[in-house]
Amino acid sequence: MISQKINRIKRFEIKVTALLMVLALAGFGFSSSAWAGGDKGPCPQPRKTKSAPANLVKASIPASANAEAGKKIFEKKAKPMACKMCHGIKGNGAGKLGKALKPQPRNFTCSDTMKKVSPGQMFWIIKNGSKGTGMVAHGKTLKDKQIWDVVKYIETEFVKR
Ligand code: HEC
Repeated sequence: MISQKINRIKRFEIKVTALLMVLALAGFGFSSSAWAGGDKGPCPQPRKTKSAPANLVKASIPASANAEAGKKIFEKKAKPMACKMCHGIKGNGAGKLGKALKPQPRNFTCSDTMKKVSPGQMFWIIKNGSKGTGMVAHGKTLKDKQIWDVVKYIETEFVKR
């Protein structure tokens, strides 16, 4: 009686372990197949992002923008989460969450893609988000000045034009 019970429990344990292993392998396969960018990040990157209004596309970064303040927003302060979680601390799009997203977070270090993304365009998407993607709107949590600060940080730290 008792030994039968123990056997049943053992069999159950083996099944659970097998199931967990399958899940772990599937998870690994998913994350490694979704990310083909290596350390440089995917480049060029497919991009279907909506364009900002023409006057904003051409706008330049205000002289008062502060890259140091922008760095803090990028790495830590932004809500609901720091930009680096998706865009990566190196701006290559390889953040912890970013790797699994479709479309992928913008790789700011890819000149081929970033030549289509002006500072004003960045400002507009950071403020309003890109519908249907992981890029949420920050217009309610960051002031315009703070958005320009983070644009200045991205522009000076990651983008090569
Ligand atoms: C949850 C993940 C996530 C977070 C957090 C996030 N982004 Fe993004 N970001 C994305 C994705 C995904 C895209 C690509 C959107 C698309 O393809 O239209 C993107 C695109 C962008 C772009 C490119 C816009 C364009 O026109 O190509 C900029 C600039 C940007 N993000 C800045 C930021 C900044 C600054 C923060 C923090 C305040 C931030 N992102 C936080 C996922 C994220």
